[in-house]
Amino acid sequence: MANVCVITGGGSGIGLETARNIDKDVILVLTGRTVEKLERAKKSLEEVGHEVHLIACDVSDRGNVHELCALASELGTIKTVIHAAGLSPTMADPETIIRVNALGTRNVNMEFFNVMNHGGMIVDVASSSAYEMPRFMVIPRIYEEAEHREEAFIRHMTFEARLAGSDYNRRGMAYMLSKNFVVWYAKKCAHEYAKKGIRVVSVSPGLIETGMGTQELEQSDFARKMIENTCAGRMGKPQELGYAIASIADERNQYLCGIDILIDGGASSGRKFHKKKAAAQTFRTGAAVSQPYCQ
Ligand SMILES: NC(=O)c1ccc[n+]([C@@H]2O[C@H](COP(=O)([O-])OP(=O)(O)OC[C@H]3O[C@@H](n4cnc5c(N)ncnc54)[C@H](OP(=O)(O)O)[C@@H]3O)[C@@H](O)[C@H]2O)c1
Repeated sequence: MANVCVITGGGSGIGLETARNIDKDVILVLTGRTVEKLERAKKSLEEVGHEVHLIACDVSDRGNVHELCALASELGTIKTVIHAAGLSPTMADPETIIRVNALGTRNVNMEFFNVMNHGGMIVDVASSSAYEMPRFMVIPRIYEEAEHREEAFIRHMTFEARLAGSDYNRRGMAYMLSKNFVVWYAKKCAHEYAKKGIRVVSVSPGLIETGMGTQELEQSDFARKMIENTCAGRMGKPQELGYAIASIADERNQYLCGIDILIDGGASSGRKFHKKKAAAQTFRTGAAVSQPYCQ
């Protein structure tokens, strides 16, 4: 039976660039909500020799993801799942961001666990913003509700996000929370799915030059600051992320699991190096410093 790689959010950006780096003897299944986008991606991949199938799916709908698993399983052995589907702060309200990014990850991991076997790998795409969460706002008790108390999970996560001041900050907080959850959940799944020989990792990109990344850059001072903190002084390219994620998903990486891999061009470490300057400013203005935290 042929090996299958399912890529959620495979119609554009990081998901599509990852697809370009998957071996051509692996059957690709691209999913997302917009069929025209998926068809364009399929055509461009087929032109360079990939076998591609499209299955429309909204990852925030568990039934949809269940159907996706059943259809993808008919094509061969599902060896790899790259879960890149997601929404950024400028794209939706806090609850929708949490439903798609956080609940979507729960849906994808739980449903694919049922149909994958020994040697399978799931890569959940989180975000470097997961590391920006103030420590006091990371509440594992709420994250644990995701699997069995879905509506309470959504309610509590949305409540937390709404504590932020402006509308944009509330959506930004929903995004950070949802991605902090993804990092936490991928680690949890890694330890639980190990009994079946399935590896799970998350990848946290910094600011990447996709439609999503460019849109965020236009709207957010924080995003502009992130670029200043990188070593190269620029956004990441989707091709760079695609190559990195496909390499991470390579089956020779058998010892890689239960960890988040931060690919942010050095933005997070850069921020620490520049901290002295910020600390001096904080001292002058007297503003409190909150400690970012990621589990
Ligand atoms: N670009 C960045 O700077 C950056 C930084 C950190 C993390 N990330 C993460 O990287 C991932 C990929 O983002 P990208 O930059 O490549 O942006 P993108 O091109 O907008 O890709 C996101 C994909 O997700 C799909 N999607 C959105 N909601 C969905 C849903 N409910 N169900 C199924 N598919 C859905 C979209 O297709 P449809 O709209 O057709 O469904 C789209 O193809 C996201 O998880 C994002 O949060 C991006």
